[in-house]
This record gives sequence, structure tokens and C-alpha cells, in this order.
Amino acid sequence: MILKGQKVTLRPIRLSDAGRFVKWLNNPEIHKFLQTRRHLTLGFERKWIKDSLKKGSSRIGLAIETKDGVHIGSVSLESINNDHRRATFGIFIGEKKYWNQGLGSEAARLVIDYGFKKLKLYRIELGVLEYNPRAKRVYKRLGFRKEGVKRDHIFFQGKYYDEIHMGLLRHEWKN
Ligand SMILES: CC(C)(COP(=O)(O)OP(=O)(O)OC[C@H]1O[C@@H](n2cnc3c(N)ncnc32)[C@H](O)[C@@H]1OP(=O)(O)O)[C@@H](O)C(=O)NCCC(=O)NCCS
Repeated sequence: MILKGQKVTLRPIRLSDAGRFVKWLNNPEIHKFLQTRRHLTLGFERKWIKDSLKKGSSRIGLAIETKDGVHIGSVSLESINNDHRRATFGIFIGEKKYWNQGLGSEAARLVIDYGFKKLKLYRIELGVLEYNPRAKRVYKRLGFRKEGVKRDHIFFQGKYYDEIHMGLLRHEWKN
């Protein structure tokens, strides 16, 4: 599946992407915003990708590419639950120089639209750490609403931080 926007293209993650993911996800400047904390190995990442590609997987992982075909990160819908028609959204751009250019917002919009329209999801949810104003800005703009707070959910550099829980329902999606 390929989803094309004006600034980015989303394409299926390939096994050959694993090395880049390992580099990005082991970079403290990236993983401080994510829930992945342990040291990620190439073997683990390759297995994660293989599992995602299996038929019937409950997750969709897509690589974010710039218009020039540069792979800069990924976007996902995980824990897809077809009984309740919901999924958990995740995103990261692993190359900092591509932040703040609207690429993340567009990538998110593309996969959320796919989730509501093609997968017929009713609800998409996510967690964002309190010290991530950039992501919060993107999610609010997309229409996500704050639903709760997991207090002191994460331990980072000697201190506990909250995770903010947000959700977006199909009829709230304006794309
Ligand atoms: C979060 C992320 C996906 C957003 O993608 P992006 O391409 O950088 O975001 P966009 O350029 O579309 O939008 C960023 C917005 O945040 C704003 N912003 C940037 N820094 C900010 C700050 N410190 N405080 C408030 N807003 C900020 C930008 O001005 C922009 O808003 P605008 O378009 O209204 O001006 C990307 O920055 C990223 O991968 N970060 C690291 C990993 C991460 O945080 N993942 C999300 C985990 S929940």
C-alpha cells in the first residue's frame, strides 16, 4: 500500500529499512520522545518488521519518504482491534533536520485518513509525553482530544513524567 501526499509518500516498511530504524531508535534525541527505551538490536528490529508484514498482523507500519525518496521515519497503526474498531497511532521522524516542515503532520493525516476510511476504524488513540510540545501541537491540529493522563508514566533522566492520552473519533475527523 502506498499513500501519497504533497510532501511525503508512505510506503510499506522493508527489511532493508531495519538498519536505519536501529540507528534512529537508539538515538537518545529521538527515543526520549518514544516509549522504546531498551537498546534495540538489528535482529529485534528485523523480527518486528517481519511480524508486521505477516498476513493478519494487528499492525500497519509505513515508512515516511520525502518527495525525493529519502526515508526519514515511520508512522504506524498498532493494536488494531476489529471488534471495537480502534487502533493506536505512532509516528517518528528519525532525521531531526526534517522536523518542523509539516512532513509529520502530513504523514499522520494520510495514515489516519486510511484508518478511518479504508480500515473503517471508529477510534484512533495515542500517548504523548508531557515534554513533547511539538507532537502535542500536531495531534491537536489533527483533532485529537486529551482524554486522560497517566501520571508519572515514564522515568527519564532521574525524573518521572506524565503521558497524555489522546483520542480521535471517526465523526470528529475532518481531514
Ligand atoms: C513529532 C513529529 C512526528 C512531528 O513531525 P514534524 O514534521 O516535526 O511536525 P510538523 O512540522 O508537521 O508540525 C510541528 C508543529 O509543532 C510546532 N512546534 C515545534 N516546536 C514546538 C515547541 N517547542 N512548542 C510548541 N510547538 C512547537 C511547529 O511550529 C509546528 O506547528 P505549526 O505548523 O503550527 O507551526 C516529529 O517532530 C518527530 O518525529 N519528533 C520526534 C519523535 C516524536 O516526538 N514522535 C511522537 C511521539 S508521541
